[in-house]
Amino acid sequence: MGKFIVLEGLEGSGKTTVALYIVKILKSYGIKNVILTREPGSTPISEIFRTLIKYGKDGDQDPITSYAELLMFYAARVQLLENVIKPSLLKGIWIVGDRYDFSSYAYQGGGRRIDKYFIKNLSRVVLNNFRPDITFYLDISPKIGLSRIENKRKLDHIEKESMDFFNRVRLSYQALASENLNVVTIDASQTLNQVNSDVQYYIKKLLKI
Ligand SMILES: Nc1ncnc2c1ncn2[C@@H]1O[C@H](COP(=O)(O)OP(=O)(O)O)[C@@H](O)[C@H]1O
Ligand SMILES: [Mg+2]
Repeated sequence: MGKFIVLEGLEGSGKTTVALYIVKILKSYGIKNVILTREPGSTPISEIFRTLIKYGKDGDQDPITSYAELLMFYAARVQLLENVIKPSLLKGIWIVGDRYDFSSYAYQGGGRRIDKYFIKNLSRVVLNNFRPDITFYLDISPKIGLSRIENKRKLDHIEKESMDFFNRVRLSYQALASENLNVVTIDASQTLNQVNSDVQYYIKKLLKI
């Protein structure tokens, strides 16, 4: 069986950067069969949901409601889980996931204030409690995180949210990290070298080396 490693955190926390680093060090430890996934996305159907979630369709005429957004995230996630993640793990392939289920608790629960027990139930039914082997939560203040991506050209719906929104997302992430096993909180305001070295420590632990 492969293992499922997930990166979570606010925009600009370094998820994509660290995900690539994890793929690199796994290869250096002899684990060559690794797939990098991103959410929402990483299957043909899930990528369609990604575009819809991020940019909507045809301007302001049909704004995406909070529940439609939540359900599209789960639709995209279950496609990825059943058609890519589970079959790959069974073949011994490792998965490094750029976001997974905690993102919905943090953004749609904390950020959009959808009832967290509703999200929990939805998740339990749709994902059947399938969890990563380890989740790295890259903790950063929205101010620092967003400043790292401020030159990005086209912001999506979520990236345009307010500081209050992102502060609620961060608080939800911090609560999730303290309530759940197999979640490691990394101080993502450190230099990239420090972040990488923290991550490497836990990857070695996972590999028992
Ligand atoms: N620890 C760090 N210190 C400073 N800059 C960083 C750090 N980690 C990532 N970055 C930079 O911040 C930007 C956002 O990183 P990225 O990995 O895309 O974040 P995310 O995927 O979480 O939005 C990139 O330009 C990246 O090079
Ligand atoms: Mg990213």
